[in-house]
Order: sequence, then structure tokens, then C-alpha cells
Amino acid sequence: MSEQHWPQWLPLRESLAGLSPYGAPQLPSLAQLNTNENPYPPSPELVDALTARIREVAKSLNRYPDRDAQELRKSLAQFLNKLSGTTLTVDQLWAANGSNEIIQSLFLAFGGRGALGFTPSYSMHPLIARVAGTQWQTGTRNSDFSLDLPSAVSQILEIKPGLIFITTPNNPTGTSLSIEGILALAKACEKVSGLLIVDEAYAEFSNEPSALTLLTSHPNIVVVRTMSKAFAFAGVRLGYLAAHVHVVEAMLLVRLPYHLSSLTQAAAIVALEHQESSLTSVATLIESRERVRAQLVSMGLEVIPSSANFLLFSINHPQDVWQLLLDAGVLIRDVGLSGYLRVTIGNDAENERFISALRNSLGGK
Ligand SMILES: Cc1ncc(COP(=O)(O)O)c(C=O)c1O
Repeated sequence: MSEQHWPQWLPLRESLAGLSPYGAPQLPSLAQLNTNENPYPPSPELVDALTARIREVAKSLNRYPDRDAQELRKSLAQFLNKLSGTTLTVDQLWAANGSNEIIQSLFLAFGGRGALGFTPSYSMHPLIARVAGTQWQTGTRNSDFSLDLPSAVSQILEIKPGLIFITTPNNPTGTSLSIEGILALAKACEKVSGLLIVDEAYAEFSNEPSALTLLTSHPNIVVVRTMSKAFAFAGVRLGYLAAHVHVVEAMLLVRLPYHLSSLTQAAAIVALEHQESSLTSVATLIESRERVRAQLVSMGLEVIPSSANFLLFSINHPQDVWQLLLDAGVLIRDVGLSGYLRVTIGNDAENERFISALRNSLGGK
């Protein structure tokens, strides 16, 4: 709804009047490649284990959930430690309904001095900031979407925000920042007493070491993760962060009581118990990504190097192509970047459908 449509009698916050609701289209399609979900559904074994655990939990749904999600946070700490060789403890983990809720809580707790991010990046960061009443500053990237580190460092030192966001691998570009780059940003953030929020929603698809490995030496780093992508568990809504204990203590101040339902906690614990089978799709998706990338390149398109489960590629008339693809049953994402579209890597049939529809839209090139 646009600004002029809000009636006078509605005491809507002024800062919200010009906003539109988050709106990746949820349209029926044969290949749903627009929200970076994992195309592979949970295995029959996981479905059975989930059903059995939910049946148990259902017996006590008259009670509120564990407010502090202790068991889940312990499982998350074990998972990350195994993956990254860290020694995180349960009090360094926090979980919420998707990493979007984690991000919202970070703004609520630490957004007082404003936030800085480098565009193009995850479009929800500034939007959630605005809703949470945090002033958002837009920093810049190089024209090839890589981060110009010296420039990023000077932007941090000049603006002195309380929160600095970096997404790696970055959405929508797929590009990664090296661990040395993250370290340089963390040092700059230290100088202005800012927290560096490293959004690692797609980290499992990347070979770069995680910023988790820097947590012990740099207490001002917060790593945000999700089970929506590599874990193939978007429907459950489970995001989490790993950080210094004091960051987690501040999360307790802003979370709503009993924010994470018993069903969500139980489902996430079961998925973590089945982590090996849940994560097998990661290797498959990386292979498929490289195949799709080669096909796009063979059509003469520029493809941004990606370490995630999606590709950003150059295209003339992106809006027309987006519609032609949708007409052919393929839903991809117009991320609003002039001359580009983003496609999520799907299963083989979806990828083939995408490539063939794209070829047709380019006149069979
Ligand atoms: C970079 C990034 N961060 C966070 C999210 C939010 O994920 P969720 O709320 O499903 O955990 C997304 C979703 O697309 C994302 O791309």
C-alpha cells in the first residue's frame, strides 16, 4: 500500500508510511527458483523422526516452551564446533524464528547509534532496521560487487555506526569476503565501538573459513546463521547467532517471552541430529550451480562468481525476461539491480527447465 492510501484515522508510525510489505512473489510455478530455498525436501527418515518427536512434544503443549531454548542452543553449539573447529558454549548461542528475527533483535538491542551496510546486499537488513527504528546508512561496493576494503574501513570510521552488516556469501551477488577481509572490518569496528554482524546465511555453500573462527579473539563479531538454506528447513523458521556471551545476554532483554515454540525447538533439534543427511544436498547444489553457471556463460551472459546456492547474471530487459520465464513456469528473482536477474539453484529438472526457458526467451541462442 502506498503512502497516500493510509487513512488519517490510522495512527501508523510516520517512518512506516512509505513502506511496502516484503514481497518475493509466492506464485504457483513448475520451478520455484526465487527465494534461495533448498529444492530437496527432508528425507523420509527425517520426516519419520520429526513426526515421532512432535508426537511426544504435543503431549505437553499446554505448557510454555523452554524460554531459553537450552537444549537447542547446545545442539547448535555442537554443530558449529564440529563444522568450524570452534569451542563455542551454549551461552554464546541464541536462536529465533528465522535469522530475520535474529537481525530484528540485533537492531532492537544495539541499533541506537545507527547501522551501516554495503549495497547491493540483503535487502531486508535496511528494511528491518527501519521497522525497528534504527537509522540505516548505505555504503558502497565496487562495480563488480566486490567489497573495496579500504573504502569500507573508512566508511566505518567516518560514520561510526553501532552495527555494521556484512553478508558473506553475499545475497544477491553470491560473492564472498575472505576471512582476512572480515578481520580488517572487525578491527575498524573495534575503533568505533561497533558490532560487526556477519550474515552467513549461505556459509555452508562456501569454502571460506567462517567468521566463527574469529569470535574468541574479536568479541565484537556476531555471526548470524539460518537453517533455511543448506539445511533445507525453511518452513520451520529457525535462525541463530553465535557471539560473545554479553551479546546473547542482550538478546534476552529484547526477545519476547517464549518466542520460540516447543514445536520449532523440537523440529530443529531433530534436524540437527540428522545433520549429515540434511547437508548432503550441499555438494549436489554446488555441482549443479557450476553446471548452470557454465550454461549461462555459454549463452554469452556475464555470471557473477558465486559461493552460494544462487547465481546473479547479466541480462538485457530483465523485467521482460522475468515475465517470459514465469510464463514458462519458471519463477526467478528480479532483485531490482538494473541489468541483472538472480536464479536459485534447483533440482536437475528445475535447472533444465530454467535454462531451456531462458534460451527460448533469448530467441533460442
Ligand atoms: C543473507 C540472508 N540473511 C538472512 C535471510 C533470512 O533467512 P531466514 O529468516 O529464513 O533465516 C536470508 C533469506 O533469504 C538471506 O538471504
